[in-house]
Amino acid sequence: VYGLSRRARDEPCPGYRGRVLIAIDGPAGAGKSTVARAVAHALGCGYLDSGAMYRCVALLSLEQPDCAPAVLASAATITLSRSGDGWLVQLDGRDVTAAIRAPAVSAAASRLAADPGVREALVAKQRALIAHGDWVAEGRDIGTVVAPDADLKIYLTATPAERADRRARELGIDATGVLAAQDARDLRDSTRKHSPLTVAPDAIELDTSGLDVDAVVARIIALAQPPG
Ligand code: C5P
Repeated sequence: VYGLSRRARDEPCPGYRGRVLIAIDGPAGAGKSTVARAVAHALGCGYLDSGAMYRCVALLSLEQPDCAPAVLASAATITLSRSGDGWLVQLDGRDVTAAIRAPAVSAAASRLAADPGVREALVAKQRALIAHGDWVAEGRDIGTVVAPDADLKIYLTATPAERADRRARELGIDATGVLAAQDARDLRDSTRKHSPLTVAPDAIELDTSGLDVDAVVARIIALAQPPG
């Protein structure tokens, strides 16, 4: 179906019609979730929000500070499912969709994402999920670690000020505090020892500053089409 489905050509899964995996990585506030959801919807693919998994483990570890985050990560059952127009995140059966977006959880997620045991447990869950079917997966390390053989890799970014503005508008708060927290997260995500946020050598960089969501989505869908 899509021109970039290398895996479907070279490594067909028995009994499967072919598969597409699109990796969308980038820093906080680049618009990954909105764009990835729209691309998944347009192409009829599943959607993996890997950040939601780190957020779930962060929530658990705030609730159970005496338990090792890596243990919490491997024991957790995290599911992401469509719910009306949005997406429902469930952690061990409870709805944590709103709870995992709290600023304290964002900061904790960024801290424990540096823990190699947490990463190992969550990467295993992510790989198991995307092993079958067509997926748009978003995060920081999808194209570099989780799925280095993805058919199409997009690195989405925007200027720090624009990213903070978008997030502040979404949350209805002042952009100054958002920018400071975002800078701290960017620094932690890109300088950590394990799977830091980097651009995969074969990723296509898209700077979304000044572009609206529809234009970015259209560009990615065009990139996923067969050439000619
Ligand atoms: O994407 P989101 O902001 O929801 O991710 C929350 C945090 O989880 C990020 O700040 C980052 O530290 C971590 N993360 C990660 N690797 C991923 C996705 C998210 O380290 N693939």
